[in-house]
Amino acid sequence: MWVEKYRPSTVEEVVGNEEAKKEFIEWIQRSKRGEKRPKEMGIFLVGPPGTGKTSLVHAAAEQYNFHVLELNASDIRTGRRLEEALNKIPKSRPLDVYMDELKFEIVVFVDEVDGVHGSSDRGGLKTLLNIAKRRDMLMVLSANFPDPQKHRDLLRGFKVIRFWPLTTRQLAMLLKRIAQEEEIPIGDEVIGEIASRSIGDARQAINLLQITAAGGGAEDVDLLDTLPITETINRVLTELDERKIRRLISASLSTPQNLYRALAEMAATSNLDEETRCKVLDALSRIDIFMGRIMKTGDWKMLREVTYMIVGAVSTLRDAGASYVDRIPTYIFFRAIRARRREKVREIALNIGRRLQHSSRKAIFEVFPFLSFSVKTGQVWMAEALGLNEDDVKILKEIEL
Ligand SMILES: Nc1ncnc2c1ncn2[C@@H]1O[C@H](COP(=O)(O)OP(=O)(O)O)[C@@H](O)[C@H]1O
Ligand SMILES: [Mg+2]
Repeated sequence: MWVEKYRPSTVEEVVGNEEAKKEFIEWIQRSKRGEKRPKEMGIFLVGPPGTGKTSLVHAAAEQYNFHVLELNASDIRTGRRLEEALNKIPKSRPLDVYMDELKFEIVVFVDEVDGVHGSSDRGGLKTLLNIAKRRDMLMVLSANFPDPQKHRDLLRGFKVIRFWPLTTRQLAMLLKRIAQEEEIPIGDEVIGEIASRSIGDARQAINLLQITAAGGGAEDVDLLDTLPITETINRVLTELDERKIRRLISASLSTPQNLYRALAEMAATSNLDEETRCKVLDALSRIDIFMGRIMKTGDWKMLREVTYMIVGAVSTLRDAGASYVDRIPTYIFFRAIRARRREKVREIALNIGRRLQHSSRKAIFEVFPFLSFSVKTGQVWMAEALGLNEDDVKILKEIEL
């Protein structure tokens, strides 16, 4: 997987955020020299995903001879295991003989503290603060989107170093280097397109580059040129040449969620017989699982399978006479339902969220528009499957867009 293969191994290789990098290095060097610690308890790297926070910690540790003890959310939740892990670190190691001026050789790194969920996280964060007070190590935290309320103590107590999204130019340069290294034929326009689509997220950019290369669309600026999803679907529905269909799908797989969300919407809202509908939705959920696996393992050979599966789903939909209608933007929808029946809607969202293991926010933004549309077109099967009752369905029907 290219994101791992090209993980920066030195601080210099971490592209962009020069200020943040400089600050981080200064801080750890100061800690290491054993200079009086500033009042902060440690360092808190804050910034959107794919900007190099995790990479910087590991690269810097390597360069400046720190040992990184990485703790995850569950280590923190169960404070006891955490203490055990810390106590395993020998108080004095052979290195100390040569470098006895070095005070902080251990970085306790808690990546993505904002991912620490559950009712016990207050206890977890408290444990964290207690450990941070220890003077024999340096604590480094990271978060993509810290919560000003929940992480108040961390934001106050730690030295916050902010990461910003990378610029399109920085991303393009990074992609170009990788493309050269991999010897893939890819034009500047495609690189530029991928860079600007990735909105500052290097992980996303590198993944898109690899998908594009694997799909064989590297030279196909024409296809990669941001085809809106409606356009893709309609072209796929009317295109008869299977090779072209596959290429269209490869290109749109760079934003796979949009593609199968659109297909799922079609399956749920078109006038299909139940068997066809179930068949398509079933295929889509398998595709979703496949894509997830590919993103995780980097087994890009499976992408071919996925493309075929999508072709199958699309042709089933086409043969059944399904059509795709572009949705009204969900924020308008959300405002409209907020204005009406706020409480009841929230309750329904909460129930749906529980069923799907989503947040109620996600239920409102992503499931509701879909659900409301389908009950209005006389299809209550999905609402029923989500455990909604007659009254809930009535509310969904009443909601006006
Ligand atoms: N600033 C960067 N420079 C170079 N590559 C980066 C950068 N940020 C992210 N990446 C790429 O994305 C991957 C994930 O980056 P990571 O450091 O885990 O980001 P974060 O922790 O901010 O989410 C890395 O392995 C690397 O391939
Ligand atoms: Mg990270």
